[in-house]
Amino acid sequence: MPVERMKRILVTGATGQIGSELTIELRNKYGNDDVIAAGHRRKPSEKLFNSGPFEYVDVTDREGITKVIKKYGIDTIYHLAAVLSAAGEEKPQLAWNVNIDSLYNILEIARKHELVRVFWPSSIAVFGPEAPRVNTPQDTVLIPRTMYGVTKVAGELLCNYYFIRFGLDVRSVRYPGIISSETPPGGGITDYAVEMFYEAIKKKRYTCFVREDTVLPMMYMPDCIKAAMDLMEADLSKVKRYVSYNVAGMSFSAGELVAEIKKYIPGFECGYKPDFRQKIADSWPMSIDDSVASEEWGWRSTHDLAAMTKDMIEKNDKTIC
Ligand code: SER
Repeated sequence: MPVERMKRILVTGATGQIGSELTIELRNKYGNDDVIAAGHRRKPSEKLFNSGPFEYVDVTDREGITKVIKKYGIDTIYHLAAVLSAAGEEKPQLAWNVNIDSLYNILEIARKHELVRVFWPSSIAVFGPEAPRVNTPQDTVLIPRTMYGVTKVAGELLCNYYFIRFGLDVRSVRYPGIISSETPPGGGITDYAVEMFYEAIKKKRYTCFVREDTVLPMMYMPDCIKAAMDLMEADLSKVKRYVSYNVAGMSFSAGELVAEIKKYIPGFECGYKPDFRQKIADSWPMSIDDSVASEEWGWRSTHDLAAMTKDMIEKNDKTIC
């Protein structure tokens, strides 16, 4: 069955780490006026604000979202707005409200207005210590220890339910930590990998909040965008799962990242001062088996640690210094 065309797209969380870059790529592909960016608290960058429509929307306000859907004749939503893992441990009630109430709003709106398709990101945070930590499989036990992980497991089940019960075409991947050069993440466990680049370039020093031997799965932003866009464009017959797909990029320890950055900035020094985020990192996978996504819709990542580091240094050296 060919995919129904996505003509008018709404991106929630468009001012966030993924949204700020994904929105621009979607605009490049589908047209500036046909991709509506929605943010709430964070001010949009000039690039985001000037390249197409922008709306202030609180994703927990169903009426507010509905107004935007009607105003622009939206048929597709990339629902990215979320509270991340570390921030969610500080305010678990807020994490539940933002992550789950908003997803329920989006799914209900998509069902009622018969939208073509919804994208919603899940995370490696769905896994807990009971799951195998190396090459974590697509299908395994999901007992997360963070509220963020709980909202991602509940969200996956909700998406799956809407597909089976209402035939809503909602698609999802479990992202690893995302490394980006445009907009920094905020409130995540994997933020240290991004912070390390910025601090290495600016100050040549960084104090990392996880141990040197902490290994987590990560992904460079171009692959993050590619995963979302490839999955949303995939032929419906290839998308067999409506719980999220594992997708992998690379895996490295904090120490290995330091060594890679030192190839470009030899004077860089990194200290380690693990805090409450260490325990969460220790409960997450170290590497991900994404063979199901590869087999079903042809997923392939393009950046490994060396390629990502080179690109991050080249981009940030120009923009930060
Ligand atoms: N990067 C996220 C976090 O650390 C994981 O999805 O919260």
